[in-house]
Amino acid sequence: TKALILSLGFMAGSAAADQLLDRARNTFEPIPKYPPVIDGNELTQSKVELGKMLFFEPRLSSSHLISCNTCHNVGMGGDDYLPVSIGHGWQKGPRNSPTVFNAVFNAAQFWDGRAADLAEQAKGPVQAGVEMSSTPERVVSTLKSMPEYVERFGDAFPGQDDPVTFDNMAIAIEAFEATLITPDSDFDKYLRGNTEAMNEKEKEGLALFMDRGCAACHSGVNLGGQEYYPFGLVERPGGAILPEGDRGRFEVTQTATDEYVFRASPLRNIELTAPYFHSGAVWSLDEAVAVMGTAQLGTELNDNEVQAIVAFLKTLTGNVPEIRYPILPPSTATTPRPTD
Ligand code: HEM
Ligand code: HEM
Repeated sequence: TKALILSLGFMAGSAAADQLLDRARNTFEPIPKYPPVIDGNELTQSKVELGKMLFFEPRLSSSHLISCNTCHNVGMGGDDYLPVSIGHGWQKGPRNSPTVFNAVFNAAQFWDGRAADLAEQAKGPVQAGVEMSSTPERVVSTLKSMPEYVERFGDAFPGQDDPVTFDNMAIAIEAFEATLITPDSDFDKYLRGNTEAMNEKEKEGLALFMDRGCAACHSGVNLGGQEYYPFGLVERPGGAILPEGDRGRFEVTQTATDEYVFRASPLRNIELTAPYFHSGAVWSLDEAVAVMGTAQLGTELNDNEVQAIVAFLKTLTGNVPEIRYPILPPSTATTPRPTD
């Protein structure tokens, strides 16, 4: 009888475990192993390679110092580990830099969702005064001044009369960014059926993440990045975490109900992207989770619960793609000179 009880106990345990996996599969999706297909932007090798060069190209900035990689460092979780980014002339921007890893899976870009896709997004920072402080004309004359770029744009955009354009710059960067995906996290292995890939504590965290309601806003392939909610739905955090001056989606839609509404953040690789929130005010992931409990759910999570949820969130760290630093062509006599 002892053996029978033991085996019944085992069956009950594994049934519960399968139930957790089933629920998780209904709520989340693994990161695909290969880059997704983007409508109207075929990921050819020449385009992706050009996009990588542009991503690392500081001469897209007027100072010749700042590239996309300055604030989205692919060796550092795809962001800059600063509360808010520092751009042109050491100016501080208003918001924390989100990671570029897996950004291709977000329904819209930025904390407030104001750019529809990565190609539209990429035109923003190049022109933003506090980021790279350049202009489309300056970018085009910079790229046209270097014969290697002219040739590479020709290869990446075959059949076009004048391939070196600001739009094509953005399209090539988007193609490169689509390759910045991080598959094979422990959570993805679990979702694919390897129930050993997560330990008990991590599974407890996963169960809490679904039972307590986090998954209502953070679901899908990126565990977020799809929809907008008021930050402070139940209880508004203090001004250090939610500064009054940044009203989120309100700036995009001018609709009163969008005040302090932000995109539910994607949580992939969250372990690598401190500090947290659009204000970058919170350095510890434990604290960020506790803030979410009170602000979004009206729940004081206890220390054990916070730790279990954090253990689960750390299973979202995937394999960062290996990126070989590109060799960029030399400036020529006609390359616009750096300016302050
Ligand atoms: C947002 C890419 C340059 C700072 C983003 C996002 C992407 C991106 C994809 C949205 C991610 C998301 O919403 O999940 C790029 C590219 C760049 C570039 C391709 C070069 C062309 C920079 C630079 C800085 C910077 C130079 C810092 C000076 C930021 C910040 C945000 C952001 C602060 C959030 C802005 C907001 O939500 O209002 N970037 N970025 N980026 N990036 Fe960049
Ligand atoms: C941001 C986790 C519940 C909406 C975040 C961040 C974390 C997180 C770690 C920071 C991401 C970053 O800085 O990159 C959690 C956990 C939850 C939970 C563990 C359950 C305890 C919710 C719920 C909602 C929500 C229920 C929607 C009602 C948001 C929004 C942001 C965010 C809008 C962005 C805040 C900002 O503007 O800085 N979440 N979340 N979250 N979450 Fe949650």
